[in-house]
Amino acid sequence: MMNFSKGIKLPKHVAIIMDGNGRWAKKRHKPRLFGHRQGALHARDFIEMFSQYNIPYLSLYAFSTENWNRPAAEVQGILSLLEENLEQAVKIAGEKNIRINHLGNADGLPRNIQLKAENALEATKNNTGLTVNIAFNYGGRSEIVAATRRIIEDRLSPADVDENLFSRYLYTSGIPDPDLFIRTGEEMRLSNFLIWQAAYAELYFSPILWPDFGKHDFEKALKIYSKRQRRFGGLESY
Ligand code: IPE
Ligand code: IPE
Ligand code: MG
Repeated sequence: MMNFSKGIKLPKHVAIIMDGNGRWAKKRHKPRLFGHRQGALHARDFIEMFSQYNIPYLSLYAFSTENWNRPAAEVQGILSLLEENLEQAVKIAGEKNIRINHLGNADGLPRNIQLKAENALEATKNNTGLTVNIAFNYGGRSEIVAATRRIIEDRLSPADVDENLFSRYLYTSGIPDPDLFIRTGEEMRLSNFLIWQAAYAELYFSPILWPDFGKHDFEKALKIYSKRQRRFGGLESY
């Protein structure tokens, strides 16, 4: 960690689409939920590992607004895992000075999950280390629509609505945009994750399935990131 980050340009915010749990289970001739359980366990270990890099923000995509389209039993299974893991996450967060945030539509979630999420936010709000944003019942388009509604409700004048103001109405209000956007599990798409915030993120796609995406794979992504030249529409300095 300390050695690794020496002389390498680190991102401030890493966003990860944790994809591939189902295929991970299938390869082992196990039910999909077995993969989700392993994925959740892995997320906990990953957060602990990540907290050693001095990168202030991590956003993890755990359940999308489109994932409700899966069979009810799978959705139920994922939600129970989420409930369990929110509790576990509070413990880890306490030990590692981590702050937990939720990205997504809380109202659309079952009451038990809402309570666990509220508790996790409240219990960790004064922690000053890494901030972990857990995205569940999250969709980028739905986030933009929700922000627009609140701007209208607040009766803002059209002239006052600019990109900065709009950003403050998103779930990520006050959090810098992701610099490095990782998707595990082979697919090369954003699947509605942080579509506003990722406008200038460096994209990194890994074929490794989420439960197998370890420290070595993460450091590979960091190394590649550190070599990317970010221009934001301008010109490289020369
Ligand atoms: C990602 O794994 C986790 C969620 C979407 C909840 P998948 O369940 O999408 O795994 P694959 O893509 O089918 O392998
Ligand atoms: C994206 O994965 C959502 C999460 C990882 C939570 P999906 O597996 O749902 O994405 P698609 O359906 O392949 O685009
Ligand atoms: Mg998938």
